[in-house]
Amino acid sequence: MTKANSSQGKKILNSVVTVWFTIAVLGQWIFALYVLLFYGKATVTGHLEDWNKVLPHGYIAGEAIGNLVIGIHLLFAIIIIFGGPLQIIPRVREYAPTFHKWNGRLYFFIAFVISVSGLYMVWVRGSIGGMVQHISISINAVLIMITATLAIKYAMARNFKAHRIWAIRLFLVVNGVWFFRIGFNFWLFINKGVVGFNPKTFEGPFLNILTFSQYIIPLLLFEFYLRAKESSNRKFVFTTITLHILFTIVMIIGIFVASWRIWFPRMS
Ligand code: HEM
Repeated sequence: MTKANSSQGKKILNSVVTVWFTIAVLGQWIFALYVLLFYGKATVTGHLEDWNKVLPHGYIAGEAIGNLVIGIHLLFAIIIIFGGPLQIIPRVREYAPTFHKWNGRLYFFIAFVISVSGLYMVWVRGSIGGMVQHISISINAVLIMITATLAIKYAMARNFKAHRIWAIRLFLVVNGVWFFRIGFNFWLFINKGVVGFNPKTFEGPFLNILTFSQYIIPLLLFEFYLRAKESSNRKFVFTTITLHILFTIVMIIGIFVASWRIWFPRMS
């Protein structure tokens, strides 16, 4: 690979990843806006039972602690989805280092609370989906806590290269639940309906694969990106670019379908 080819490949790679990130953030913010408007409105107007229009195990009269845990999970979901990308964008970090520091601490704290509350919702309160999904989302929770710990550890050790890498891994696993929704809606779109799972029990082979893919695929793509950035192998760099383009296309379709089918209608 010539030097010109190599730097051209890296430029394309960076542009593709920037487009990927921008679209992901827009899609995540639509999701967060939906959580804010739908659950927020139900909560401030005192109609907690409206949570159950979406969550089968949402509000249960008389179960104050369980309801509080879900309320905290939802509130923190809004903060972590809005605040996460602000930690990753280099300009924000450069121009507002104090904000970065405090938002980072908040992100770390919320990452733990949202994971523990999620584990409570799966294993104590009960949730839809089968055992495979319960195990997979629990692994997602553990990954969130591990990556959050490592991101903070490297920040405190002032190893900012490692800190940035672990912060991006944290961002990706925190958004596992979002990637699940995007993948799910993309699947409904390309199959023109329900295929590979039972819509009543929310179990089936497709969902078993999707539940692991929600964090494995984004993490793997990031590993490809890290290696491609340093690689002089032209084929590898262009394979990484192609994979990111394909993933971006899936994401765009998934965001459109999820927004128009679920998120926008529930915002009003
Ligand atoms: C930072 C990551 C997370 C975010 C942003 C998040 C966000 C949300 C949101 C917005 C909902 C409401 C569902 C909807 O309206 O679409 C929800 C429900 C739920 N979350 Fe999370 N969540 C996260 C992590 C987790 C984890 C790690 C677990 C499990 C260990 C979990 C377990 C659950 C469960 C079980 C429900 C549904 C409860 C039911 O079935 O009634 N979440 N989450």
